[in-house]
Formats: sequence, structure tokens, C-alpha cells
Amino acid sequence: MSNYHIKHLEEYFQVYRKSVRNPEAFWEEVAEEHFVWLKKWDRVLDWDFTKPEIKWFEGAQLNITVNCIDRHRHIRGQKTAILFEPNDPNEEAEHITYNQLHERVCRMANVLKDKGIKKGDRVVIYLPMIPELAISVLACARIGAIHSVVFAGFSSTALATRINDCGAKMVLTSDGSYRGNKTIDLKAIVDEALNDCPDVETVLVAKRIDSKIKMKDGRDEWLQPLVDKAYADCVPEIMEAEDPLFILYTSGSTGKPKGMMHTTAGYMVYTAYTFKNVFQYREDDIYWCTADIGWITGHSYIVYGPLANGATTVMFEGVPSYPDFGRFWQIVEKHKINQFYTAPTAIRALAKENLDFVSKYDLSSLKVLGTVGEPINEEAWHWYNDHVGEKKSPIVDTWWQTETGGILISPIPFSTPTKPTYATLPMPGVQPALMDENGNEIKGNPADGRLCIKFPWPSIARTIWGNHQRYKDTYFSAFKNKYFTGDGALRDEVGYYRITGRVDDVIIVSGHNLGTAPIEDAINEHPAVAESAIVGFPHDVKGNALYGYVILKETGETRDRDNLRKEINQQISDKIGPIAKLNKIQFVPGLPKTRSGKIMRRILRKIASKDTSNLGDTSTLLNPEVVEQIMKEAL
Ligand code: WT7
Repeated sequence: MSNYHIKHLEEYFQVYRKSVRNPEAFWEEVAEEHFVWLKKWDRVLDWDFTKPEIKWFEGAQLNITVNCIDRHRHIRGQKTAILFEPNDPNEEAEHITYNQLHERVCRMANVLKDKGIKKGDRVVIYLPMIPELAISVLACARIGAIHSVVFAGFSSTALATRINDCGAKMVLTSDGSYRGNKTIDLKAIVDEALNDCPDVETVLVAKRIDSKIKMKDGRDEWLQPLVDKAYADCVPEIMEAEDPLFILYTSGSTGKPKGMMHTTAGYMVYTAYTFKNVFQYREDDIYWCTADIGWITGHSYIVYGPLANGATTVMFEGVPSYPDFGRFWQIVEKHKINQFYTAPTAIRALAKENLDFVSKYDLSSLKVLGTVGEPINEEAWHWYNDHVGEKKSPIVDTWWQTETGGILISPIPFSTPTKPTYATLPMPGVQPALMDENGNEIKGNPADGRLCIKFPWPSIARTIWGNHQRYKDTYFSAFKNKYFTGDGALRDEVGYYRITGRVDDVIIVSGHNLGTAPIEDAINEHPAVAESAIVGFPHDVKGNALYGYVILKETGETRDRDNLRKEINQQISDKIGPIAKLNKIQFVPGLPKTRSGKIMRRILRKIASKDTSNLGDTSTLLNPEVVEQIMKEAL
């Protein structure tokens, strides 16, 4: 039996039981057998959720880049580590081998050092999906600098807030980025942000779009000439197990973003372990995660997890719709992708388009399909399964969070039988609990409650940068001695979990708990509907009533609106019950989304309750024009 690589269901249960009976022994064995350490730990785990304080592998010393790069060189030095697929399909893809990655990371690390960056300093990285992004992340880790990647779609205000919150001295950026047929002037956004960031001393600029940009004397420099001059080897900094590796901001439901801080050893062990098992990666596979490295998915499952396993990981610069809606599938065919990991929002967008975009490509290389980021609705799940996986590739619906560092609940493909919309079973070492309104754990199946985790896993975030109290309040105060995820979940008869959505999206109508996701699923199954979002609004009798925002497919546009409303409510009635029927249905051209693709329900709630005088922080909103229109036509 192998703890590290689970190959069938029986083995999963055995490993899982072992991991829960004795988590320390379980993780110690994984850490011992699959990573290189400069010094082993004195103690595997020390934890106290009441403080909260969590320490894994204390006393150990390591460098994560040695595990992600150096140790692979003698066995797979010529293997492609990073496969870069540019925005423009006519531009050649770039294969960066493990040997080349070593050199490029070392050179970049030496550039950072030359500019005065030391262990513990924060470096903000605001780069598009080009190789320099992954290389910068790894270069920081090489010298013990704490990277904080800010997604290069964020505005200058959002960027400035993050730079100041973590106290970065340096920003790495590029002259611009490509996005479909558009270019974006990233450097100008940085310049604007830096008007409010007095502590930034250095800005290094990668050249991507060759645009004319302003360089501020004494602060800004082109990156490439410095890299060319730098020495091609860099001794890795010795890191303690609990030294910070990175800070990554995640938006809270309100207020200022939370800088989730992740540390070195536990994060490495957990992301590597889950990558191997969730994607069943084999030596010659080509793995592609379509996320941006600006999100946790990119950190854990484009950079660290895959590289720690010596994988070939694809970095895609472009968008799914350029030059047309077949781009993803064209890339799958071109690079013979074996594991493909994307978000439900992308699947839904592509499922709206003509099937020819999918069927004209050879997708036979695919073995495992993944989704992450939000509940996947049944219709999207089946479309993905039928048309992309051709019913042969298991879908891993992976549930996790920025805070969790790695995947906590997911099927293990070829072992765990999948079930549409279910993330299924916890990873080894993960102990979920469903809690009722009174703070008690609901034992037995089926169950429906708030999702908590009872025991630490190695990659849990250790704090919110600069605000430990907020960390405690947000995650460890709602339920005693448990990490509270903020999500609701169901557990079915066999113990499979289905994430029903944020608990703040649960709406209580006439005393009944209604999750938004199942209602939206029901609506989306109507043939005329493309997408929908449900929010609650105050109601005299029911407490809350339901307001639905519905995007129609082109085929629905010509239909009579009142008939459509009736049919949608009938559909909900049929699928869930009359209690879930909507009081109001507004047909909209789009939904307000964050840049990570999440619906901003906060705004929809305000519009539904006619409280639009102050919409709150909209800096992460991707499509403000849609909000204007929804407000104008609100019911
Ligand atoms: C929230 C975390 C983890 C990387 C991307 C999102 C929702 C995430 C699923 C899933 C249902 C999911 C949860 C979670 N979520 N994955 N498979 N099924 N919901 O990271 O931005 O930190 O968001 O995303 O609500 O709490 P994030």
C-alpha cells in the first residue's frame, strides 16, 4: 500500500482511516519519503485552534525550490517543466526544461538579491501569465522573500491596497499584457498605484508587448538586461518549516482584502500530495490548469504542486474565447493534454456556444477533468462529461479555498465513483464536520449543515498578514475548536459531500433554508436560460423572498417574458418545491462578476432590496456597466 499514490477505492479508505487515526504518523511518512530536507523536523504537529496556532514539521529546514526544481535535474533535467502557450495561437509555444527553469529562477533570484531583497522581504508580483510570473514566484522562494501575487486584472486601487497592506519594497510587472485581441497597459496601472505606495523602492519591468512606457528614474528598470548579467546559479536560502512562503489576498464579503499567509513545509507537502492523487499524474503526462497564477489555484496547482512532482505544467496566457471558442480544445489537441483543470464558469460559457467548437478537435489524450471555484451545476457537469470527457474521463469536482492552500474534498479519479455536483470525499488527513444552527456537529447521514474542519491539515493558512485577530474572528470563532469554511454542505447517504454555496447565500424563506445553488440549477435547466443568480430580499410575510436574475440564451430572447417567468417557476416547483419559487424574475444581459468569475451577490442583494444608494466596494468588479443596466431595469 502506498500512502502517496492512491490507486483504488479500497486503498483510499485504508489510507484515509490511517490518516485520521494518526495524522502525525501519516504526514510524517509522506514528508519523509517524498521530499528533500536539509534537516528533518523535531515535531510533526503542534496546534491549538483556540489561539489559533498551527505548526507543521517544526524544526525542519528546507527550500521549496530545491524540491520543485533542483532535485529533478538529474532524473528529468531535459523534461519540460513549464510549457508556455501564448495568447496568439500563431506564436510558438515555449518549452522550459527543468534545467532551464533552474537557470532562469537562479538568475532572477540573483537580480532580486542585487536589488537588496532579503529573506522575509515582501515582493508584489503583478504580471500576466508569461513565464516570468512563475519564475518570479520561484525566485522569491529561492531567496526566502515572501511573494504576494496580485492578479493582473486588478485595478490600480486594488493593487495599491495590497502593496501597502503587505509592505512590499519591490514590484515586478511588465510593460503590458495580451488578452485576446486586446492589449492592457499594465505598467500604467502600476504607476498609478504607486502614487499611493511610498515604500516601494524598485519596479522591475518584463517586456511583453513592446509598448512605449514611462520609466521612473531611480525606481523602474527593465528586467531582461539585469537577468542577462546575473549569475546563473543561486544557493537556496535555508528556510525553517514555518517561515512564510507567500501572502495571497482574498476578498472578504466586506471591507478590506485578507492577506492569507501560507508557510513553507506543510504547504509544500500538502499541495504535492494532493496534486499527485487528485490528478493521478504519471511521469509523461501533460497537465493543464487554466487558472491564473494570481489565484491560489495557480499557486498550488500550476506552480508548486506540479513542479514538486516533476510534472509538465502548462501556462496559458490567453482567454477561452480567442481567437474563437474552440481555443481550449485546440490547445488540448495541440499539446495532448492529459489532465485539464478549469472553472464551472468557463464550462458554462463554452457550453453556450456551438458544439462544433469542441467536436472538431481530438480530445482523446484527456484522462482527468477537474473543476474548482464554485459549485458546478448539473447541466454544466453533464456537458463537460459528455462533450469534453466523452464519458471516459472522470470529473474531479475539487472543493477548497485560498485559506486551505490545497484541495480538501475531491474524488480520486478511477477510485472514487463520481456523482454530478458532489465533491464527494475528503482527502486523507482532512476531517470535515457539518454543524447545525446551535453549534453542534451533525453526526450520521444524510446531513445538511455548515462545513467545518476539525483537525489541521498541513497547508492551512497560518494567519491573516498583520491581523491575527481577524483570522481568529473569521475562521475560528463561529464554532468552538473548529475551522469554519463559510460554506454550507450536504452529506448524502454514503457520506459524499456536496458544497451548496456560501452560507451567506443561504436564504431563509418562511422558515425554510434554501440554498441558492440548487435553485439556480433548476432554473438553468430551462432550455431558454443561460445563467442565473438568486438573492433574498425582505418580505413582510415570508421574512425573505427570492429575486432571480436570469440571462437568456439567444433562443429565449424572442419569447414572451411572462410565459417564461411562469415556466421558470414551474421548473423550480418541480425540482425543489413551491417554497423555492421566485417572487420576482428580472431578465438581465449579464451578472456582476468579480475578476475571478464569482457573482457579486452583495450587489444583486442591494438591487433586489432597492437599497442602491451605496453599493460598497466595487473595485474588483469586472463589468460595472452590467450593474448600471440591471439597476435601471430593476423590478
Ligand atoms: C470558495 C473559495 C480554491 C480555489 C478557487 C476558489 C467556493 C471552491 C468549490 C467547489 C463548490 C466551491 C467555496 C469556497 N468553491 N471550490 N468545487 N464546489 N464551491 O478559491 O476564491 O478562496 O473561494 O469557493 O464557496 O469557500 P476562493
